Amino acid sequence: MKLWKGRFSKEATSSANEFNASIEFDQRLYKQDITGSIAHAKMLAKQGILDSSDAQLIEKTMLDILKEIEDGKITFTIEQEDIHMNIESILTQRIGQPGKRLHTARSRNDQVAVDIRLYLKDEINEIGKLLEALKDTLYTLAKNNQDTVMPGYTHLQRAQPVTLAHHLLAYYQMFKRDEERFSDCLKRTDSLPLGSGALAGTTYHTDRDFLAQELGFANVCPNSMDAVSDRDFAVEFLSCSSICMMHLSRFCEELILWSTTEFNFIEMDDAFSTGSSIMPQKKNPDMAELIRGKTGRVYGDLMTLLTIMKGLPLAYNKDMQEDKLPLFDAVDTLKASLSIFTEMISTMKVNIEKMEKAVKSGFMNATDAADYLVAKGLPFRDCHEVIGKIVLYCIHAGKAIEELSLEELKGFSDLFDQDIYESIDIRACIAAKKSKGSTSFESVKEQLNQIKK
Ligand code: ARG
Repeated sequence: MKLWKGRFSKEATSSANEFNASIEFDQRLYKQDITGSIAHAKMLAKQGILDSSDAQLIEKTMLDILKEIEDGKITFTIEQEDIHMNIESILTQRIGQPGKRLHTARSRNDQVAVDIRLYLKDEINEIGKLLEALKDTLYTLAKNNQDTVMPGYTHLQRAQPVTLAHHLLAYYQMFKRDEERFSDCLKRTDSLPLGSGALAGTTYHTDRDFLAQELGFANVCPNSMDAVSDRDFAVEFLSCSSICMMHLSRFCEELILWSTTEFNFIEMDDAFSTGSSIMPQKKNPDMAELIRGKTGRVYGDLMTLLTIMKGLPLAYNKDMQEDKLPLFDAVDTLKASLSIFTEMISTMKVNIEKMEKAVKSGFMNATDAADYLVAKGLPFRDCHEVIGKIVLYCIHAGKAIEELSLEELKGFSDLFDQDIYESIDIRACIAAKKSKGSTSFESVKEQLNQIKK
């Protein structure tokens, strides 16, 4: 029997029931729903709206139901539509009258809103822990690779030498910002919608501040219509998740490139690679590719919710029942991606010699050679041209700049001296960087120190 049967003279068809129901996916909120109901019953009793004995019976029975759900002893029904009505009807079957009083001064609209916020608050904390673990792993990897030199790229062309530590710390900064974004999103999620009723508030002397305290919310949503129709916090969460997945995906793209025979900078651990069903020699970086692919899914989740919300008049509309699918999907995808990614990079092998070898070709010291001439008094634009001509000469001669004799170099500019060779040594190029936040060994050490603090 439907909880709202009074006004109806006909049963819904089974197809309409099935189409309308969300129990298949919102049963995930059973714990939050029970927690919210217990707090609501306590508040009603404190305000003299419900007998204390009824509130106690509701609490005790709700805790029994919680345990039975966790033990897999309860079957939900499509007839009862969603998690809220399923639990309420089980409660009422067991205790009768007091169960029927629970929904006083409450609507499913503020109920579902509080459930989602309780759920998301916990998940944001879990994601925070996963980001911490990832940052710790990056910190350790960077610390151990301060002397590992590699090509830094622009346009995916060899550009200037950097240390692997510097490259890894770039990602550290991205994930640090992600963490900040999630904790900022948490502030707006941490507001209590319960007590707003269907949209207009209730006629009872409720105590929403008490509810906020009981349920651990920092504050109370100030407008009842906003409280039941706001899903900004969820959109914001999906946006933070999309940005975080974008960072993971960029990193994955690099790891995929780096593990090709062409680069050969890293080797993924066997435990995080897969083979081919036909080509016996293959070892594929499937985990990284999947994270890159799943990023598209999370972007889709963000677009889904933005699109659901864009045409909705105030206040609650049933469209909003569809908010849970993208939200749950993004939470699951992001959490799985973060944890597999952390395991994957902490077990990969870095081919230090291959990275170092790659730095030796591609004229990665050309900018430093130009800077050498600047130090000798030539304007930078002229230096750029001189070195450009030298590079062209080297390409034809099949040599690196440091392989040219001093006579050959003097042929391009008489400012060259013997000290050019030490100035364009790869490690010297890295060490010579002076600007704050640069790839110099000193600067990377400083970045690590800042992080440690
Ligand atoms: N299952 C619904 C949802 O997830 C609960 C709220 C229903 N409210 C209503 N007035 N039909 O949005």
